[in-house]
Amino acid sequence: MNIKKFIFSSEERHIEKVKFTCKTPSNIALVKYWGKSEPQIPKNASISFTLNNCHTITTIEFEKHQNKTIDFDLFFEGKKKDDFKPKIQKFFERIAEYCPYLYDYKMVINSENSFPHSSGIASSASGMSAIAMCLMNLEKVLNPTISDEFFNKKASFLARLGSGSASRSIEGKLVVWGQHDKIEGSSDLFGIKFPYKIAPIFEDYQDTILLVDKGEKQVSSTVGHNLMHNHPYAEQRFIQANENLEKLSEILQNGDVKTFINIVESEALTLHAMMLTSNPYFILMKPNTLEIINKIWEYRNENNSNICFTLDAGANVHILYPKSEKTEIEQFIDKELSKYCQNNQYICDSIGLGGTIIND
Ligand code: DP6
Repeated sequence: MNIKKFIFSSEERHIEKVKFTCKTPSNIALVKYWGKSEPQIPKNASISFTLNNCHTITTIEFEKHQNKTIDFDLFFEGKKKDDFKPKIQKFFERIAEYCPYLYDYKMVINSENSFPHSSGIASSASGMSAIAMCLMNLEKVLNPTISDEFFNKKASFLARLGSGSASRSIEGKLVVWGQHDKIEGSSDLFGIKFPYKIAPIFEDYQDTILLVDKGEKQVSSTVGHNLMHNHPYAEQRFIQANENLEKLSEILQNGDVKTFINIVESEALTLHAMMLTSNPYFILMKPNTLEIINKIWEYRNENNSNICFTLDAGANVHILYPKSEKTEIEQFIDKELSKYCQNNQYICDSIGLGGTIIND
């Protein structure tokens, strides 16, 4: 798709004041995005499950002003948050060429997450995608002729410019971001819904997130991505990720859970191996992350279970499993794994459908 198509031009209606509330989910990557070039172009294609319960709800009030600047106030969970502003300011500046109406409105942004603050769950995916969806709702009011397909593509395109993984938080249940020869319609510019039929077992997959370490990460994703430049294993890693996506695409269609487990766990450990072998090197896993992984392997072997894990750029562990095993795996988590979590805390989630507008 030609990038120029995303530049807003025709204002069909004059809007003085309007407000939108959007809810967008977090997502968990199965094939990881780690390494990018300007402007937010991934070095390999990635795929994620869209989550259901972990989400951000954002309201933006737009009021027309004349001073032709990007002007906004930001509130997080009811409190003014000026320290979050530079990131959002940078985001707006990046997308202003595609959304020139940003200069026409003073914005008041109110945001809240469903998951506990500083739980170590990345909030940039749900946070940036919620803002992008609010903007697209304004755009649709200014120009009602845009199609739903364009709405979602551009929402994902904008979200990507805020945070790469946010491009995968507009739709569900599985989203691919990054151009891949074997995935029809895939693009580096925006996420697309996985374009093939998903095997029933993956339709309602479960994700229980064990909150191992709720503290601030020592190394941000942005710094981590940058360390993939000149990384000795980077090129091989990007090839491997694209190969894994091709394999996973088949698996998601044919329901081969055993191979799914192998690829997903290998992706998680490879992501962290990239961190261990960067220069400077760093470790985001904690001793309890490893305890949990070993317990999962033990449980899987002893019970012939389909439980597996994946990791984000942090110490928390996402436990993935089919819904048919929910009762026994939840018992196992509660009895054997919750003790490795901070304050025994974990979040039960499952595959979700993507962002929604709550009211206007
Ligand atoms: C490990 O999307 O947070 O979660 O584009 O710099 O905002 P930026 O990075 P971000 O990176 C996410 C990395 C990951 C893997 C993934 O979600 O694919």
